[in-house]
Amino acid sequence: MCGIIAYIGRKDCKDILINGLKRLEYRGYDSAGIGILESKNTKDAKGIKIKVAKEAGKIKMLEDMIGRSEMKGCTGIGHTRWATHGEPTKVNAHPHLDCKQEIAVVHNGIIENYAEIKEELIEKGHKFVSDTDTEVLPHLLEEYDEGDLQIAMSRLLARIKGSGAIVAISTKYPDQIIAGRIASPLIVGISKDANFFASDMPAVLEHTRDFLVINDYETVRITREKVQIFNISGEIVKRDPFRASWNIESAEKGGYEDFMLKEIFEQPYGAKETMRGRLGNGKLDFSELDLSDKQINQLKKIEIIACGTSYHAAVIGKQVIEKWAGIPVEVDFSSEYRYRDPVVMDNCLFIAITQSGETIDTLAAIREAKSRGAKIIAITNVVGSSVARESDYVLYTHAGPEIGVCATKTFTAQIMIMYMLGLFLAKKRKSLEKARFSEIASELEIMPNKISDILDNADKLKKIADQTYRQTCFLFLGRIFGFPVALEGALKLKEISYIHAEGYPAGEMKHGPIALTDKKTVVVSIIPKDFIYEKMLSNITEVKARKAIIFSLASKKDKKIEELSDHIFYIPETIEELYGILAIIPIQLYSYYIAKNLDRNVDQPRNLAKSVTVE
Ligand code: AGP
Repeated sequence: MCGIIAYIGRKDCKDILINGLKRLEYRGYDSAGIGILESKNTKDAKGIKIKVAKEAGKIKMLEDMIGRSEMKGCTGIGHTRWATHGEPTKVNAHPHLDCKQEIAVVHNGIIENYAEIKEELIEKGHKFVSDTDTEVLPHLLEEYDEGDLQIAMSRLLARIKGSGAIVAISTKYPDQIIAGRIASPLIVGISKDANFFASDMPAVLEHTRDFLVINDYETVRITREKVQIFNISGEIVKRDPFRASWNIESAEKGGYEDFMLKEIFEQPYGAKETMRGRLGNGKLDFSELDLSDKQINQLKKIEIIACGTSYHAAVIGKQVIEKWAGIPVEVDFSSEYRYRDPVVMDNCLFIAITQSGETIDTLAAIREAKSRGAKIIAITNVVGSSVARESDYVLYTHAGPEIGVCATKTFTAQIMIMYMLGLFLAKKRKSLEKARFSEIASELEIMPNKISDILDNADKLKKIADQTYRQTCFLFLGRIFGFPVALEGALKLKEISYIHAEGYPAGEMKHGPIALTDKKTVVVSIIPKDFIYEKMLSNITEVKARKAIIFSLASKKDKKIEELSDHIFYIPETIEELYGILAIIPIQLYSYYIAKNLDRNVDQPRNLAKSVTVE
């Protein structure tokens, strides 16, 4: 939550900062600001001032406002905010300044002990103007600065509790930008003529694809030419940069109206890329896991933790691993796991799923499990993310950057990993017949084509959305392999349309939720022709009898489903365990078109942020 960018180089940085913030807007979009070190003669420190511009609302508001003012300088910081402490007002927007207006700070995270620090600073005579926790940071730097801002930042990291990616500029040190990190994402972008800090790669992809990760409690000094990383003891740390495979085109809308739509249509590619090097010509390779056959055969349990959409991928993972590999799997919300005193048994594999690799609860759950002796496999889309770095093994999804707040292509890439992992474990444990293994593997290999077939029929889903978007309650129902799709369907719809929606196992309807059904209800039934089809039909008949509108996602034409449904969309036939990945595609599109009919901002839904880096 919150996006940070910083630039030091030879160019005027106003536009670089604003463009970078636009690319980070998915991380927070309630207010934004930039701070630039301005001077006619940058060699003369006395003439240097920090010029700050901030505005409540979207970055466009800030851009319009800055358009009317002069802001020149080659060193600057920027921030887009997702409010935690203090309302999303102009005064609470970042950057925040110290008393002398010599230091400006942007911050992503939460300072848990800010109240106590603030009190102490007020006693010392510091003046505060905002309601934020962040404002203590420039004042602390002002207190700690004894001639080296990096050392001051290091002392600051030792003083605060909570989380933070913190970036500071100072009129006293115009040739450098200093950052510090505890638990919140921050990377360094390196180029020939300039260096950057950013919360995420897309912010600076148009300038560089070379990055350095920063670890917790490290501080970093960047100048135009140099990057220096310091550990907690103040020693310089050597670290090799990595080159991102993402490019700037992958972080642009590319002619689509929204990132969400573009990302939905990128799913065949994401699925294919995620299979690349792992599954092909019936062969499955997961050597990146580096687990011995003995370890796999001794596995007694798998524990998967995740949040939101990633949690739904975890439920799909549980189903196929249990069915194919015969290993019991427990799935937990990271936010529950981290506080529930979990038992970590021997021979248990621990998997964390997170597209961003920065979700604070998932990170905390990993740390909790590690402290109890667990080995961690991370499944993430972001190379070098915190979860990737803190895990023992990483399985990257190769979906490309996902900018829309709503997870789409990263979800299907996660599902592909879960399917392949289930198959891999089954192969090692010899729990699947050879023929069955080959059948599933071949079906997975052609999955991108089947996804494309669905996308070719997007207009049909638009029509159904046009006819149903005024309904006030949506129930997504499925059984077994359709159940996680129902959960994800409800989440998709509610997060981008703000309509009340629930995902339920269809068999549970009679235990309560059926009371909700009336003629204002749409029941989205995930009803492929699988072993539970007849049971699903009975459940749908029951809600139909209560006047609900039935929209069925079926796989095979038959009379019964046609009679029962007000709307039907047919997904391609596949093996019953694999229907999940196909059924979610039409639901993503359906939710998208409903939200567009309601004039919602699908890329930046209200109150949400792409990566949840605060509790
Ligand atoms: C998905 O559409 C949501 N925006 C959200 O539920 C998301 O899946 C969740 O915050 C988990 O994020 P992660 O995968 O980056 O950990």
